[in-house]
Amino acid sequence: MEVKTFNHLLGKLKGISDAQLKAHFGLYEGYVKKLNEIQEKLKTQDKSAANYSFGEFSELKRREAVAFNGAYLHELYFENLLAKSKPSAQLKATAEAAFGSWDAFIADIKASAASTPGWVLVTWNKADKKLHTYILYEHHIGLPVHQEVVLALDCWEHAFMIDYGTKKADYLTAFMENVNWDIVNKRLESAA
Ligand SMILES: [Fe+2]
Repeated sequence: MEVKTFNHLLGKLKGISDAQLKAHFGLYEGYVKKLNEIQEKLKTQDKSAANYSFGEFSELKRREAVAFNGAYLHELYFENLLAKSKPSAQLKATAEAAFGSWDAFIADIKASAASTPGWVLVTWNKADKKLHTYILYEHHIGLPVHQEVVLALDCWEHAFMIDYGTKKADYLTAFMENVNWDIVNKRLESAA
């Protein structure tokens, strides 16, 4: 995986500073590097030494999904920032069908954020064909299979500590004001 640049966000977000963003970009790059490192090391590991308790191959396999999701979810997050457009009719209709109303949908995202130290993902569930909010406790734990991610919300403390300290609710308000609905609308359109 190659590191993508999201410098177009600098100076453009409301309530999320460049210092916060730059620190976050660095963290994202770290996940990409670790993913590449894991994938390189896997090529030369002795597979016959794979073991549930401990084995070099086994440990690398255990962390592979952490590094991949850690990298890729950050790309989805940065991509769905930069206030643009409005929720589409399709997004509103699917949110209302699943949560009762648009306000209830937003309230669910915020309540989900309060429930995890990690990620909130709004997904299109291809099994029941509904919009869902899921929470991840680590980058790789908590997401049911068969999902298309429509909106990624980074709730790890590193996403807001520089700007908001422990005031997570204020960060969530800022995040919602910076959502690029154009991207979210397109993701749903191609998933549903
Ligand atoms: Fe993050």
